[in-house]
Amino acid sequence: MKPKVLLTAVVPDPVLAKIEEVATVEMWENETPIPRQELLERVQDVEGVYCFLTDRIDREVVNRAPRLRVVSTMAVGYDHIDVEECTSRGIVVGHTPGVLTETTADLAFALLLATARRVVEAANFVKAGQWQRWEASLFLGQDVHGATLGIVGFGRIGQAVARRAQGFDMRILVSHSTTLPAEVQRAAAIRQVDFETLLEEADVVSLHVPLTPSTRHLLSSPEFRRMKPTAILINTARGPVVDTHALYDALHEKQIAAAGLDVTDPEPLPPQHPLLTLPNCVIVPHIGSASLATRRRMAMMAADNLVAGLLGQCPPHCVNPEAMTVREKITRHMSS
Ligand code: NAP
Ligand code: GLV
Repeated sequence: MKPKVLLTAVVPDPVLAKIEEVATVEMWENETPIPRQELLERVQDVEGVYCFLTDRIDREVVNRAPRLRVVSTMAVGYDHIDVEECTSRGIVVGHTPGVLTETTADLAFALLLATARRVVEAANFVKAGQWQRWEASLFLGQDVHGATLGIVGFGRIGQAVARRAQGFDMRILVSHSTTLPAEVQRAAAIRQVDFETLLEEADVVSLHVPLTPSTRHLLSSPEFRRMKPTAILINTARGPVVDTHALYDALHEKQIAAAGLDVTDPEPLPPQHPLLTLPNCVIVPHIGSASLATRRRMAMMAADNLVAGLLGQCPPHCVNPEAMTVREKITRHMSS
């Protein structure tokens, strides 16, 4: 009998076909994310879960799923999954690194240009019928070319943003978790500095770290106070990397000039949220990887990870390969 899997949203037909070759599929077909209670009920007899970053796969979910062997998320960030709990239960976790790097870097750069040059404000002005004449001081923004970009987290996406910034003749500062070798810094035309120096010197600060206990609220009031009053913050990482209340205050009080956000905390933002009242804050709904081609690749990559896990193999893009050893021990223990 084929193992049963839960897909927490509709996937493209070729992806579904790939999964159905090895599994019986139960799919959440509503447009809204699967409610928590439904998730808890539907995982009880499944061996695999194909999920999205809106699904919290925590200890409670894992404990409800005694047969679970693989969790595959259609995202590179896996902060919505309790990986430690999965590992201790021999459950492998797959994600989608690399395939969305360039698309997400494109969006980070789009937000950078939009905020620096006030594109959204200016477009709204035209649509509102307010464009009467050319004016020398209309929507004055900041130059991107020649500005200093501070990249926080020099992983796949951080590096892809740096490549784009070189084309704009930007000076690039990087704050990273480990010391980057001098030849890497030279080759990438960057200078590694400590986080505080980056905040003080950058005209644009762009976040590319994963959400972990140590990056939660990496930017709060003290950090905003260190930034230039003309500085722009770009966040395409995760909402909680920034303290939302402190960000609102910093933008409202003009401690910094603007922010471009693809991710927020909470997410989605409720319609009455104060951030939405600020003209100097451009917000888009977590569309970093949202090109047709990239989302197709991510969906198939997540299917490959799921299928490998169901076949007892380590997923090609596995967050916790050590879970394989735990699984072997559990299997040996059960058969002895
Ligand atoms: P990645 O290659 O793992 O890069 C993240 C880098 O940040 C790693 O090299 C990591 O170093 C470093 N880092 C961790 N903590 C740090 C800190 N406190 N200060 C400086 N650097 C730190 O991941 P990625 O593929 O670039 O993706 C990064 C994140 O972007 C994902 O985790 C996800 O949350 C987000 N993302 C968002 C979208 C979107 O749609 N908006 C799309 C894709 C990704 P170590 O490995 O040494 O810890
Ligand atoms: C999107 O946010 C991802 O982590 O893939």
